[in-house]
Amino acid sequence: MYQCQACGFASPKWVGRCPDCGQWNTMVEEQGFAKKLTRPSEKAEPLSEIKADTGGRLSTRIAELDRVLGGGIVRGSVVLVGGDPGIGKSTLLLQAAARLERPVLYVSAEESPEQIKLRAERLGINAGNISVLAEICLENILTETRTLQPGALIVDSIQTIYTEELNSAPGSVGQVRDSAAQLMHFAKSTGITVFIVGHVTKEGMIAGPRVLEHIVDTVLYFEGQRSHSFRLLRTVKNRFGSTNEIGVFEMTDAGLCEVENPSELFLAERPINVSGSIVSSSMEGTRPILVELQALVSPSTFSVPRRSALGIDLQRVNLILAVLEKIAGLHLPSMDVFVNVVGGLRLAEPALDLAVAAAAVSSLRERPIPPHIVVFGEIGLSGEIRAVNQAEARLKEAAKIGLKQAVIPRLNKEKLKDSANGMQITGVKNIHEALEALGI
Ligand code: TYD
Ligand code: MG
Repeated sequence: MYQCQACGFASPKWVGRCPDCGQWNTMVEEQGFAKKLTRPSEKAEPLSEIKADTGGRLSTRIAELDRVLGGGIVRGSVVLVGGDPGIGKSTLLLQAAARLERPVLYVSAEESPEQIKLRAERLGINAGNISVLAEICLENILTETRTLQPGALIVDSIQTIYTEELNSAPGSVGQVRDSAAQLMHFAKSTGITVFIVGHVTKEGMIAGPRVLEHIVDTVLYFEGQRSHSFRLLRTVKNRFGSTNEIGVFEMTDAGLCEVENPSELFLAERPINVSGSIVSSSMEGTRPILVELQALVSPSTFSVPRRSALGIDLQRVNLILAVLEKIAGLHLPSMDVFVNVVGGLRLAEPALDLAVAAAAVSSLRERPIPPHIVVFGEIGLSGEIRAVNQAEARLKEAAKIGLKQAVIPRLNKEKLKDSANGMQITGVKNIHEALEALGI
């Protein structure tokens, strides 16, 4: 069998390009197959008689981590923490382990116990509940875990351990997947929560966490840019809670610190009275986050002007620019347009459309938007401003950090129940009304 190292697609013959994910040269021959496992067969039972006792959730006492887990750790669940190497996965899990009110076994297949001790000292951790094991053989890890009976097991990382059931190299798709499946079975049968660290890898090298997303219960991705100190922990899948939640952290000298008010962080360096800058609100899971959007529209020196977008979908930006040309009569064909979400955030919400349009118009006409305004709304192809979800939550967050005015879809305004949190709210029906309300 051949298997794609990027997505895990299996094929009986070698192909140059994976038929599933479309990447080239990712098919690798998988040697060795799992021995037939003889597990006792289960009996079917009536749904009404099954007791669903998860023993409640255990708090990690890191609120941002609890949030993405859906309210704490579930007994016997398997959580995958993925992210680029060096982003802070080991740091986060060590900090969480120290705060957990249960014994934790930290298995490091990458670092020596001394290295972990050094990190712990740097983090100011001297918790008696953590045991460290430097081991790369999964069977030995499971034996040691059975002896110690911890509340949680941390496997750092899945790409460096191997199971004796297969004779392929650690990090290959088969090894990663089989090890994860065994850990899953182990967690369910013992009630021990397992955290698996998975490095997101450049294609071709070793199997990334994507190949085990469907095996585990919860998938968290740690994101961030090296140039910025903040880190986002995003829920991609959760069998025990909602997805798309985010936790916000800041990497400091003393490890990861929780950011309780992300909106303040993302708006901290906003320039005042500068054209092309505007504040919008994006729902990240259940939480509204205020962000600054910037646009730069300037005459192009190329025959085909440049269009570029950072942190937001370029196709969406092009669509909005097309609407501005056709409906609002802007002349853009000879203009370069750059759009940026400040702070390195990546957002994908149509509610940001209006902010993109407003920032572009503000930059083109060199008319600054007053700094205390928040805007949101989806733009339709005929220039209409469509309602978005959670308008009240967005406005509340804006009022909380001191914004005074809002330009929002008319339908959202009509449905507002609250007294608008003391904000002056303008409901707009189309792009013309929106630009007028913003004075640009
Ligand atoms: P680490 O948790 O080792 O990353 P991963 O396990 O995802 O590969 O984090 C490594 C980075 O974090 C490294 O660049 C140093 C930085 N760091 C700090 O800035 N402060 C700290 O207190 C610690 C422990 C790490
Ligand atoms: Mg690490």
